[in-house]
Amino acid sequence: MSRPGLSCHQLTFQRACGKTVLDRIDAEFEAGGAILLTGETGAGKSTLLHLLGGMLQPTGGEVWAGGRPVSRWPALHRDIWRRQVGMVFQHLHLVPDLSVEENILLPCIPHALSWQLLARRVGAWLGRFDLAGSGQAKPHLLSGGQRQRVAWARALVMQPRYLLLDEPTAFQDDGWVHGLLDVLAETAASGGCVVVSSHDVRLRKADSVFQRKYHLSRGRLEVLP
Ligand SMILES: Nc1ncnc2c1ncn2[C@@H]1O[C@H](COP(=O)(O)OP(=O)(O)O)[C@@H](O)[C@H]1O
Ligand SMILES: [Mg+2]
Repeated sequence: MSRPGLSCHQLTFQRACGKTVLDRIDAEFEAGGAILLTGETGAGKSTLLHLLGGMLQPTGGEVWAGGRPVSRWPALHRDIWRRQVGMVFQHLHLVPDLSVEENILLPCIPHALSWQLLARRVGAWLGRFDLAGSGQAKPHLLSGGQRQRVAWARALVMQPRYLLLDEPTAFQDDGWVHGLLDVLAETAASGGCVVVSSHDVRLRKADSVFQRKYHLSRGRLEVLP
């Protein structure tokens, strides 16, 4: 039996203008696996990831995580739960006044970890993502691909149980796409629940990494063969 990861129950999201972006979606995103979410621009992929990560509240239905209805919880409880979520935002949202290292350390703030452990973790991701010489640099001095890998490192540094990645290879060349797919596969293999939104055809071909592929269209989610 699969372990509970994230799931949507009749999940609905209506924008303030009245537009229904997501319409009664039911879906399972299992722990220990990676799921790819495709769909045209404007289909609602980012909205769905923000709902799964507790950054938006549904206007109908629920999001469950680890078998618990987290979208129903009061904001304070949900904020604490969200510490288990790692997110790469489509528009990255790095903090411009902080260095690369400081950006990566941001999710560690609520956790009482030793400086030695944090330094080891940040150093390991900087090395893996070929950013070792850029730890003290401000993000604007990096290329788009490097900045996106900083966002990956920030999402991964706390070893999140739920990893949500929004167009996470948009700025990466083919070599890096392979390297990043390896990171996804490792995260899933260690029990993480990985959901990737992308229209990158290079990811659509990665059948060995993604257990399931969903397509979002007109507010509904279909399983792709
Ligand atoms: N902050 C926002 N305010 C109002 N409408 C938004 C906002 N963000 C996205 N939308 C609208 O919600 C719909 C889904 O957007 P989005 O989730 O970003 O789609 P995708 O990620 O698939 O491109 C689109 O119609 C978009 O215009
Ligand atoms: Mg998007």
